[in-house]
Amino acid sequence: MKNEYSFKFAPEVIFGCSKRNVLHEKLAGFERKMLICGRHFAQSRIFKEIFSSRNDYFVHIVESSEPTLDMVAATLEYARINNVQSIVSIGGGSVIDIGKTVAGLFNQPGSVEDYFYCRMEPAAERIFFCALPTTAGTGAEVTPNAVLSDTKTNIKQSIRGRVFGVDLAIVDPELTYDCPLSLVRYSGMDALTQAIEAAISNKANHLTFGWSMESFRLIFENLRAACDGDLEAKNAVSEGTLIGAMAFPFSGLGAVHGLAHPIGSLYHLPHGFVCGILLVHILKINRNFLGTAAAAYYGREGTPEKLLSEIAALADDLEIPRNLKGYLKKEDFQFIIQNCRSGSMKCNPVALSDSDIEELLESLI
Ligand SMILES: [Fe+2]
Repeated sequence: MKNEYSFKFAPEVIFGCSKRNVLHEKLAGFERKMLICGRHFAQSRIFKEIFSSRNDYFVHIVESSEPTLDMVAATLEYARINNVQSIVSIGGGSVIDIGKTVAGLFNQPGSVEDYFYCRMEPAAERIFFCALPTTAGTGAEVTPNAVLSDTKTNIKQSIRGRVFGVDLAIVDPELTYDCPLSLVRYSGMDALTQAIEAAISNKANHLTFGWSMESFRLIFENLRAACDGDLEAKNAVSEGTLIGAMAFPFSGLGAVHGLAHPIGSLYHLPHGFVCGILLVHILKINRNFLGTAAAAYYGREGTPEKLLSEIAALADDLEIPRNLKGYLKKEDFQFIIQNCRSGSMKCNPVALSDSDIEELLESLI
């Protein structure tokens, strides 16, 4: 594991129950504010509580499906027409990623495609961006990238760069309390995957390892109870997600995330659902690199086998399928192989050849 690193951690991070109450005070310096949220949140009790007495936010509602370039373009147009000075996203990873991209592109020339396909580099500064997550999963509230899809090409990838960061993350676990059970399961498995992939990544260092393993512990020990509605457990999963997301932008992830993007975009499957299915299969491939994580979590009696079997038992309890039967098609293997070579894939401790990936995909049908 690496013992040298340099960090610049940009966002101000505020974590804790009821911390949503600091939002208006923190944004008091901006006259023209834009709120991006999903329809479900806009009709919620918490939306009324936060915004019913306010008339200084331009509210833009987006679909809560995975964000596309078209959704970003429409939201960017709304932000520019209203000449907003700051953006707040309240929602899951999709809503936050749209806000992050719009804040980052607000002052740039060209189209979102130009930056998604790296034809242009953002040169101007972003406008102020604040994120409040309503799910415990992606950690998008602190990561300096956004995951977007181009529906014309089925390409799903990260748009990266300093401008796609966050200025303020307010993580209030109470915002996750109304999350539907399927979302608690899938986003929890995403966060757990991020934690363990970051811990065993070949770019991990001692600092990111510490954060990743604490993230793993909080999520691993609380996700079952969070799914049963235990509020303390939901708070712990929320905190674990945040801590993990502070680590993985520096450590990178692994093959689960490399493969989850093309598979998720091809079959329109939730990211956390795909991560949950792939996790045990990829950890088996990475078995020889699980020793340090197992020892850090269990102590001396920790072994890769124990860690693997307990993660598999958790996935079973959360009713995560063990394979991609009914979704994955053999004729798509080449597309998946061609589009999985992201930064995440490069961080996987075991280098996977095209034929290794083909063999893995074969076993998932
Ligand atoms: Fe993820």
